[in-house]
Amino acid sequence: MDTNRLSKPIEDILNKQVKKEADAAQIYLSYAIWADSEGYAGVANLLFRHSGEERNHMMKVIEYIQQRGGKAKITALAAPPKDPKNLQECFEKIFQHEVDNSEAIYEIVYLSQKEKDWATWNFGQWFVKEQIEEETLVMNLLDKLKVAGGPNATSESLLYLDEKIGQQEDDADFARDASVANP
Ligand code: FEO
Repeated sequence: MDTNRLSKPIEDILNKQVKKEADAAQIYLSYAIWADSEGYAGVANLLFRHSGEERNHMMKVIEYIQQRGGKAKITALAAPPKDPKNLQECFEKIFQHEVDNSEAIYEIVYLSQKEKDWATWNFGQWFVKEQIEEETLVMNLLDKLKVAGGPNATSESLLYLDEKIGQQEDDADFARDASVANP
């Protein structure tokens, strides 16, 4: 008896996402190492932690595929991109990466809707929300860098910014998520 509750196209697109999240973990890891080498310990801290979060995303998709009777696939990873020239490029590249990842998530949700696979549609919603947070996190980094002077930022303002970034959580908080229990 076939107990796989995922169609072949859904299983394939989810497995594509497994690789995408694993690749993302590598991208954050390589940028974290770059930031650390450049002396941006705070940014490196955030990026190292975020690399772990991407790996957790990968695990979440693997668990779902297995839970639904499919089979998750582990494949070779893409080489990480070359080092950015500066913090501006680092944050811009990360932002573009997150937007691309959001598009990939939307494809999963779109396909699951087309197939009336409501379990996968529901699973995809967690990632839709997560991607809003991820994009916001990087937008905030770009905003902070802009206030610090962007391409003309002084060493002092970059040092201050790096310290601040090192202290922040890697998940953005939203006012709409606030409640009485969690103000
Ligand atoms: Fe797993 Fe940054 O998205």
